[in-house]
Amino acid sequence: MNLWHGSAACRGHGFLIDKGCGDSRARSGMMTGVTGRAVLVTGASRGIGRAVAEAFAGSGDRVAIHCRESVAAAQRLRDELPGEGHVVVQADLADPEAVRTMVDGAAEALGGLDVLVNNAGVYTAHPILDTSYEDWQRHWRLTLDTNLVGAANVIWCAARHLRDRGGRIVNVSSRGAFRGEPRHAAYGASKAGLNSLTQSLAVALAPYGIAVTAVAPGFVETDMTSEQLGGVRGDEIRAQSPFNRVARSEEIAAAVLWLASPEAEWSSGTIVDLNGASYLRS
Ligand SMILES: NC(=O)c1ccc[n+]([C@@H]2O[C@H](COP(=O)([O-])OP(=O)(O)OC[C@H]3O[C@@H](n4cnc5c(N)ncnc54)[C@H](OP(=O)(O)O)[C@@H]3O)[C@@H](O)[C@H]2O)c1
Repeated sequence: MNLWHGSAACRGHGFLIDKGCGDSRARSGMMTGVTGRAVLVTGASRGIGRAVAEAFAGSGDRVAIHCRESVAAAQRLRDELPGEGHVVVQADLADPEAVRTMVDGAAEALGGLDVLVNNAGVYTAHPILDTSYEDWQRHWRLTLDTNLVGAANVIWCAARHLRDRGGRIVNVSSRGAFRGEPRHAAYGASKAGLNSLTQSLAVALAPYGIAVTAVAPGFVETDMTSEQLGGVRGDEIRAQSPFNRVARSEEIAAAVLWLASPEAEWSSGTIVDLNGASYLRS
C-alpha cells in the first residue's frame, strides 16, 4: 500500500496523510534541549493533544500528529510547528485495522517511534434515567471503543516499534476515573480502565526499557468542555478548584513532556493528578 498522498487527501482507513510542503522551520530560540525523538500524539488536531504536539516540537522532537477527521487543522498545526519532519496521520481509533496502518505509517515516516501519547478521546453525555436502552448501548460502545480499546490497540501496535529501542507511553486519563462521572458513566469507566491498562503495561514493558504512565486532568479548557464551561454551570465548575479556574492545555502538556523524558523512567506505573486541588486522594 502506498502511504503517501496529496496534502488534501483523506481516505477511509488509517494512514500517513502527508509530510507537508517542506516549509517546516527550525525557529531559532524556540528549540531548547533538542532531542529529535519520534513522537506519536493521538488526537493532536486540537485541545490537549495539540498542546502536547507543540510541547514536543518545541523541545526539538519530530511529531506524528494524529487526527480522526480534522485533517485540515492537523495540517495547519504541522506547518506551524517549529522544527522539521512532522507528519499528519489519520485513523478512527474505533477501527483496529485503521489504527494498525496509522501507527505503522507514523513509525515509517518518523524512522521508528520513541514516544506514544495516547490522548484522543470522546466524552458524550448519557444520564442513565434519561437515556434509552439503545442509546445507552451506543454511548458505551463508542466510548469504550475509542477511549479504552482504541488506546489499547494503539499501544499494541506502537509496542512493536518501541520494544527494541525503549521509550515512553503516556496515556491521557481523567479525574473522572476516581471521582465518578454521573452523566458520562461510560467515560469514567473507560478512563478507569485506561488507568488499569497503564499499570499492567508498566510492568509488562519495563523489561524493554519502556515506561508507561498516565495523567488524570480535571476540567481543561478545550472543545470537549466549551459548552459546559460557557453554560450555567461554568462558574460552579471553575469553583471546584481553590484556584477558581480550570486548566489550560499547556499545563497538561508540560506534565506529559516530563513523563516522556529520560528522567521519568522511575515514574513508570504512576497516574499524575492534574486537577488544581479540586479532588484529592491519597
Ligand atoms: N478537556 C477536559 O476537560 C479533559 C479532562 C480530562 C481528560 N481529558 C482527556 O484529554 C483528551 C483530550 O481531550 P480534549 O479536551 O483535548 O478533547 P477535544 O478537544 O475534543 O479533542 C479530541 C481529539 O480526539 C480526537 N478523536 C476523537 N474521537 C476520535 C476517534 N474515534 N478516533 C480518532 N481520534 C479521535 C479528535 O480528532 P478530530 O479533531 O479529528 O475529531 C481530537 O483530536 C481526551 O482523552 C479526554 O478524555 C480531557
